[in-house]
Amino acid sequence: MASILVLNGPNLGRLGSREPEIYGSMNYEQLASELVAFAEKHGHEADVRQTDSESELIGWLHEAVDGRKSVIINPAAFTHYSYALADAASLVTKAGLKLIEVHISNPHAREEFRHKSVISAVATGVIAGFGTDSYKLAIQAV
Ligand code: DQA
Repeated sequence: MASILVLNGPNLGRLGSREPEIYGSMNYEQLASELVAFAEKHGHEADVRQTDSESELIGWLHEAVDGRKSVIINPAAFTHYSYALADAASLVTKAGLKLIEVHISNPHAREEFRHKSVISAVATGVIAGFGTDSYKLAIQAV
């Protein structure tokens, strides 16, 4: 059994009411419990968390390194500019652990500022554009 940290960045706690035409109608609590159940069905334990704080996300990545846990992360808007988060993500993959970057939408089909990810270069892989199923595909990848 793998223990997987599923980390969500800023504004993802507003799923359900935030731009449902882009992010769907499922709220964050429903998503979290679906992912826990999905992981369990595949023999894994998922610890699903959300924060609006860059510092808290970085701390969770350090925790993954120290606890040797795989990470699925939707860095939300931090994807596009947080070099601090990229450095922390790099610690995870350099430690030989998986870090999968996920997005609900396909950022490449959206505004130009979303086309750049500073995380992708240090991630094991990227899954984007499949709605909340992006997370389930990532759990399968782990
Ligand atoms: C997102 C895409 C980002 O551009 C955006 O800032 C988000 C969500 C996604 O899941 O599609 O907050 O990461």
